[in-house]
Amino acid sequence: MLVSASEMLKKAKEGKYAVGQFNINNLEWTKAILLTAQENNSPVILGVSEGAGKYMCGYHTVVGMVKGAMQDLNITVPVALHLDHGSYEGAKKVIEAGFSSVMFDGSHYGIEENVEKTKEIIRLAKEKGLSVEAEVGSIGGEEDGVVGAGEVADPAECQRIAELGVDMLAAGIGNIHGKYPANWKGLNFDVLAEIQKRTGTMPLVLHGGTGIPAEMIQKAISLGVSKINVNTECQLSFQEATRKYIEAGKDLEGKGFDPRKLLAPGFEAIKVTVKEKMELFGSVNKA
Ligand code: 13P
Repeated sequence: MLVSASEMLKKAKEGKYAVGQFNINNLEWTKAILLTAQENNSPVILGVSEGAGKYMCGYHTVVGMVKGAMQDLNITVPVALHLDHGSYEGAKKVIEAGFSSVMFDGSHYGIEENVEKTKEIIRLAKEKGLSVEAEVGSIGGEEDGVVGAGEVADPAECQRIAELGVDMLAAGIGNIHGKYPANWKGLNFDVLAEIQKRTGTMPLVLHGGTGIPAEMIQKAISLGVSKINVNTECQLSFQEATRKYIEAGKDLEGKGFDPRKLLAPGFEAIKVTVKEKMELFGSVNKA
């Protein structure tokens, strides 16, 4: 059964660890992440961007696939199915389709419009028991065509949005989606500390988890980050393993062309990456 992210993040906050959000793209991603969470007795959040949702046919397909996989694989650890960077319309759609958690990303609106729209999504989500993530100060890099510039959020705006009753808050602190450039300045811990000071016990979300050095991840967790999003890193692991398989000519040997064989190394590589992140975030054995 899917659960909202609210309880698992409260526990993470108290226990000073973070729950990973790993974005899914298809069955292989879903199965790899669910099995790794179960094997490591870790709570997990499956992230679905609007683009990935569309790619997988739509949100009903995603809900059916995830629920079916959990039943067939006997997944008993807490799993939340979460819309990543949802638009106002997208957020409403997943609330109807049966997701257990939703992010409404109103960071590109002015603060007043972000507040109004976030309030409405909270109202609709709470009627159905979903947890809600809001965002202040857009996160840099590119994700599904949405481009931000490594912005840093205003702690006063974070406080305003937090007080609306969201379950978790994403705030830009110099993090970027995708690979970090060589001249990246790192995370702004002063701003992170200030945001947490103003938002009390609100679980904070760190987007752009790919490529952030381990010490920065640990420091961010110590300052109040309870959810860390990882997407690109699983894609890179999958790509590298798949490339090796093809370059080694394995697809040309015997039944190596069978998709169940062709996609197996990439599947295993995602599992390794997810396990490493769960260990780094401290969520192993916290189910
Ligand atoms: P990365 O792709 O950089 O890991 O970021 C993931 C993310 O923040 C999803 O919202």
